[in-house]
Amino acid sequence: MKLLHIDSSILGENSVSRKLSAAIVEQLKKKHSNLEVDYLDLGTKDIPHLTGAILLGQDVEQSRLGEELVDQYLAADIVVIGAGMYNFSIPSNLKAWVDRIAVAGKTFKYTAEGAVGLATNIQKAYIASSRGGIYGDSSPADFQEAFLKQIFNFTGVTNIEVFHAEGVNISPELKEKALQETLEKISHI
Ligand SMILES: Cc1cc2nc3c(=O)[nH]c(=O)nc-3n(C[C@H](O)[C@H](O)[C@H](O)COP(=O)(O)O)c2cc1C
Repeated sequence: MKLLHIDSSILGENSVSRKLSAAIVEQLKKKHSNLEVDYLDLGTKDIPHLTGAILLGQDVEQSRLGEELVDQYLAADIVVIGAGMYNFSIPSNLKAWVDRIAVAGKTFKYTAEGAVGLATNIQKAYIASSRGGIYGDSSPADFQEAFLKQIFNFTGVTNIEVFHAEGVNISPELKEKALQETLEKISHI
């Protein structure tokens, strides 16, 4: 069973979402003895923004990287994404990854009835989210968790679980409390 673990925080050791995503992966390793983890760190791996040349296959090296990222996504049975809220959205390195894996004919297709997701090998997706403020589950200012859920749904992944630590920039005490409470929830996966 393959698990694709993606981190996107730019904050390294100080990242909250990295701690949460790592805890989810550790928990899943306990549940599935045959888990093969593929780790993609977007904080260190440079995925350049999508360009017309990449889209048209004229940038051979980058087009190949896009194909590899699509294959890596399609091969996963479980995906875990760590993402903080950056300017109400996801980190731009994660958006660059999304732009590479949302490929018509590979991860979705258009039909007369609308778009159909093709990443049906992925049985479950986990979102490890961290936010400086407090937004809850359905804030109109949330273009982070809502966006990731939309991308998963769009590519055919409908079983999605979100773990978020909120208010982590309000005070060090609240950060620690939110982190511990979320880690506790993760321990019940
Ligand atoms: C560039 C940047 C933009 C941010 N924008 C927001 C924001 O719009 N709303 C918010 O509540 N917190 C914001 N924060 C705080 C982060 O959501 C918070 O630090 C979170 O823990 C980031 O995840 P990470 O620690 O895994 O990087 C921002 C932080 C950074 C570094």
